[in-house]
Amino acid sequence: MSEILRHTISDDSAWTADDLVRDRSWEVRLGPAHVAEFAAGLAAVQAQGLSLQQITRANFPCGPALRDLAAHVVSATRSGRGFTILRGLPVDGHSDDEVRLMYWGFCQHLGLCVSQDVQCALVADVKEKGIAAGPLTRAYGSKRVTSLHVDGTDVVGLLAVRQAPSSPLTTLASSITIHNEFLAQHPEWLPLLYAGFPWDRKGEQAAWEAPLMPQCLPVFSYAGGQLSAHYNRSWITSASVRRNLPFSDEEVAMLDFFDAMAKKHAYATAMAPGDVYFANNYTVLHGREGYEEDADTQADLKRLFLRIWFFVPEFRAFADEAVERYGITSFGNMGWTAQELAQGRNLADGHRRDFLHAVV
Ligand SMILES: [Fe+2]
Repeated sequence: MSEILRHTISDDSAWTADDLVRDRSWEVRLGPAHVAEFAAGLAAVQAQGLSLQQITRANFPCGPALRDLAAHVVSATRSGRGFTILRGLPVDGHSDDEVRLMYWGFCQHLGLCVSQDVQCALVADVKEKGIAAGPLTRAYGSKRVTSLHVDGTDVVGLLAVRQAPSSPLTTLASSITIHNEFLAQHPEWLPLLYAGFPWDRKGEQAAWEAPLMPQCLPVFSYAGGQLSAHYNRSWITSASVRRNLPFSDEEVAMLDFFDAMAKKHAYATAMAPGDVYFANNYTVLHGREGYEEDADTQADLKRLFLRIWFFVPEFRAFADEAVERYGITSFGNMGWTAQELAQGRNLADGHRRDFLHAVV
């Protein structure tokens, strides 16, 4: 277990909704130069006849506007507020596949993009998939409210392609602010939070892997002067169900307090088609309101967001990198690069990549 941070963090990473209302520097509206460079990148990959999996930083060119934008995304997620929202990516007039190519191409300039699920999706469709609610089911295939949580890599990107008629709001909250609240109101729970919980693998593990993490993933950890959070109540609840070890009353109270503080300080924002957020999973939680959509809505008119997961070299310090950074991502068909998938490395029995420096 890492050292427990016993003082309040007061830098930009510890924000509240009011802070984001006062200072909107987290938001960037794209201009004609950005749009033109996205179109040029798309034209380049189409001219080369490249599939999405073949796109690299080298063959998806970025002009000066997109290069500056990429530097902004990396900087805004690595430090400061820990996230940014870009508004106005060119989605109108493009097919979903063309949007995937542009989005994926741009993200090659942000970090090392990896697969996210049992299907090895590199760009995952976040949409209603008719998946029934259940304790061992990942939440992104439903219309239900998505509670504030983090994903499995350094950064998550989520691009709005089509919205539902009710335009459910996206919610974001600072994990650092929540740690400040624990410190102020319930410091007695910090040792439990730093000890953490095992996470379930939600049935997405390979045949030779255990159905849940062998170690506990700390809810909070502290290393190199940086606090990191790892919180997804759904995944730790699944682990408790699979182990048949219900949470104690104290653990339930602690997790309820975490959720209540996340909700209290969350900022809710509309996401229009072409808007995308990039969030540091160690400092920023993300979620979404529930929504309604007619069951007979045509597939090409349904709400659709596109998710990309990526690692950023030298992103931050970790107390236990193998567990905190790769413990939940590097299993099954998750955590593989497009090049590794092309080589079939995800099919090699028992072999896992543990460290980013092994592939960059
Ligand atoms: Fe998520």
